[in-house]
Amino acid sequence: RPSLLIDTDPGVDDALAILMAHEHADVAALTVAAGNVGLGHTVRNARTLVELIGAGTPVFGGCPSPLVRAPDEDAAFVHGADGFGDVGFAEPKHPVEAEHAALALIRLTRERPGELTLVALGPLTNLALAVRLDPDLPQRVKRLVVMGGAVTGHGNTGKIPAEFNIGFDPEAAHVVFEAFPMFDLVDWEATVRHAFPDESYDGWVAAGDARAAFFEKIFGTARRFNAEHERTGFIAADALAMAVALDPGMVTRAETRHVAIELDGRLTRGATVVDWQGRLGGTPNARIVLGVDQDRFGQLIAGALGAA
Ligand code: BDR
Ligand code: CA
Repeated sequence: RPSLLIDTDPGVDDALAILMAHEHADVAALTVAAGNVGLGHTVRNARTLVELIGAGTPVFGGCPSPLVRAPDEDAAFVHGADGFGDVGFAEPKHPVEAEHAALALIRLTRERPGELTLVALGPLTNLALAVRLDPDLPQRVKRLVVMGGAVTGHGNTGKIPAEFNIGFDPEAAHVVFEAFPMFDLVDWEATVRHAFPDESYDGWVAAGDARAAFFEKIFGTARRFNAEHERTGFIAADALAMAVALDPGMVTRAETRHVAIELDGRLTRGATVVDWQGRLGGTPNARIVLGVDQDRFGQLIAGALGAA
């Protein structure tokens, strides 16, 4: 079983990824950022989820806003105003740790050098801050898997080529993409290609346990949004990144390239610019995941919902 450190902004698909992680791996901590919704909500959602799982995973709160500029948008219109489908859960009892998420990332990777796979499921603010404080951090993680970007410009934000996690905090993404010598990048386009038929999702919910019932509750808002916006099938970006973190062998197609972040662009700020043809001479820093074994991906989700 891999050991994971998860940086996240829960978020409905974050929740599924976190369920998968607890089913199939050891989870050292959840470090939480603002993104889909504000930090108060994302931290509470992380605690609610850990309580449901009954895992005791420590939750660390991090950055309440991007490093430099206020974001253009959040994703409450997909995930609900509270990030968990506005179900109205009671305040969780699971505590939030006093230590800042960025400091926890530094400390935990110092305590277990070379052991932890870092999975980034939200804006990269906490991780950027951590690597600025401690530039040796990238050398201490076993792997980094990032959910972010849109490698041929088919993004999901108001800036057409930008994907949400990168577009929310482009400067943080820039810091992280420059700091790590190599990481796995699971972009929005791969997510869309690896959607499941609605029937698969409905089958997991019907066969699953309390985790499936919980997920079905929080998914309502996002499901309606997807239907209204012609996003067909069950799309779960963070779940795909988590699957790649849990089982690197499930990747069937990948390309290693230099990827940089557009920080200016009137229409393109937050875009992931991939040097597909190696024209700029930058050292490749990202293994771009282009395809995975869909059955294996489905099995990892089914297991996490108690429907395997
Ligand atoms: C990413 O943005 C968020 O809304 C999701 O949780 C995922 O991390 C997809 O672009
Ligand atoms: Ca997320």
